[in-house]
Amino acid sequence: MYNQLVKSEVMQILEKNVDYYKEQFLTPIESIWQPSDYLPDPTSDNFKYELEELQTLAREMDYDLFVTLIGDCITEEALPTYESWLMNVDGIDQGEGGNGWAKWIRAWTGEENRHGDLLSKYLYLCGRVNMREMEITTQYLISDGLDIGTSSDPYKNFVYTSFQETATNVSHRRVGTFAKQSGNTKLAKMCAVIAADEARHAKAYKHFVSKIFELDPSEMMLAFEYMMRQKIVMPAHMMRQSGQKAGELWDHFSDAAQRCMVYTGQDYINIMKDLIDEWKIEHISGLTETAQKAQEYLVKLPARLQKITDRMATPDQEYQFRWVKS
Ligand SMILES: [Fe+2]
Ligand SMILES: [Fe+2]
Repeated sequence: MYNQLVKSEVMQILEKNVDYYKEQFLTPIESIWQPSDYLPDPTSDNFKYELEELQTLAREMDYDLFVTLIGDCITEEALPTYESWLMNVDGIDQGEGGNGWAKWIRAWTGEENRHGDLLSKYLYLCGRVNMREMEITTQYLISDGLDIGTSSDPYKNFVYTSFQETATNVSHRRVGTFAKQSGNTKLAKMCAVIAADEARHAKAYKHFVSKIFELDPSEMMLAFEYMMRQKIVMPAHMMRQSGQKAGELWDHFSDAAQRCMVYTGQDYINIMKDLIDEWKIEHISGLTETAQKAQEYLVKLPARLQKITDRMATPDQEYQFRWVKS
């Protein structure tokens, strides 16, 4: 089943190209955007006018959409959870300055950190958020931690990150699109630049998996099947607000995101299809018998899930989140 030696060898082979991956999929620190590029500048004479405009537009935002934006921000702010998880993956070594993979994770984390930074500053300024409640949820989310079900297996982890980076791309992009439709072009721009980062990151992780499929197709197929069978746990799964148990808020947040069409069950299926196409699952050959069974399962899975998703309904009643100032 789990062939530690082969997997670590594959990770070592890929590691030789990490500098190239960083060049290809990440952006140099000196040229990448920073949160302050998109926020009102408190040292400028225009600050109070820009702040007023920002606050007026935030007040007009649809409740579910606004709540989804807050939840997306909290999800980004739980970055310590994701970084510490990934640093523990087999083949990633932080010792002596870190191997190539550790450097990749650090550089990726540096880019990701700007997302929560930008959104939380926006939300602080917008005057519609109960910041203390939002901060409590963030602290809980980091403190509660999350088991993404990959153990320290690099193949499973790269399936997870391929899925998640694509999901966050969808989510930020949609919030941006809806913000733009209601005339909130500045927020739209913020979401768009974050979504573009997520798209680059998704490309990177999908590329790593493609390379693993070339080197170790059967084990990679089994890892993909494993992750799809157990379903991808969303990073905000354990979300709660003050006074609640871990995970108590998740369904309400997920319902709000579905109601405003920012992230739906259909998106889950579409991402799965996207990964199946990207990795040309149907055409991979040279598989062991068990891996062939996994391949058959994967190819049929989107259609099976579609039937289930078509029958699912989202409650139409809005849930009152403590994050939003009444
Ligand atoms: Fe992000
Ligand atoms: Fe991301």
